[in-house]
Amino acid sequence: MKRLLGFAILFLLCRTSAAAADLPELTAQVKQGRQLFRQSGKGLACATCHAVEGYGNAVGPDLRRLAAAIDPHGLVMTIQMSMTAYVHELKLSNGRAFPGIQRAKEDNLVEIWDLSVLPPKLLKLKHAQIVSMKSNSAWQHPPALTGYSPQELADIIGYLKFVATGIEKEVTTDDLR
Ligand code: HEC
Repeated sequence: MKRLLGFAILFLLCRTSAAAADLPELTAQVKQGRQLFRQSGKGLACATCHAVEGYGNAVGPDLRRLAAAIDPHGLVMTIQMSMTAYVHELKLSNGRAFPGIQRAKEDNLVEIWDLSVLPPKLLKLKHAQIVSMKSNSAWQHPPALTGYSPQELADIIGYLKFVATGIEKEVTTDDLR
């Protein structure tokens, strides 16, 4: 009985290590892109506002759907676009106006990420405090603030493509143009 158990454990051990060996080794770009997404070193990292692989703040949208659907050039274009799909222009009863993104609505409170400050700040507001929430906001995505070089952006996009599709294909700075 004991021997049988020993064999069973040995068998399981072999199987798990074989499964681990089947996983493809991540490319240098994917590893580098993940690192840069999480920590920019120079400014605001993407993870300040986007959660990927369970890391970061989900202020902005989940990037996987878009990263699976469009090419690297298209992704850079959406970052640089001045139109916003999620950010709204909020006006409060005290007269304050600012760009914000709604996170959650509870019975009495509305949670809003205030994007007028960096990193964004989570506000909990009463319904009555919000006078209006308009879809056209002058807010612009902050690629310039993040201070990434073109090569670093290519690495980040290579990483996002990998997370979204499972495919590790080198993204070059030419692909961004
Ligand atoms: C200060 C917060 C902030 C930082 C930092 C930030 N983002 Fe964003 N991002 C947003 C918000 C908010 C949106 C949604 C804009 C809108 O309303 O369309 C967005 C949208 C996007 C989109 C378009 C997604 C879609 O589905 O429309 C992409 C792609 C993107 N960000 C990538 C990045 C990358 C890559 C970085 C790092 C280089 C980054 N972001 C850093 C806040 C941020």
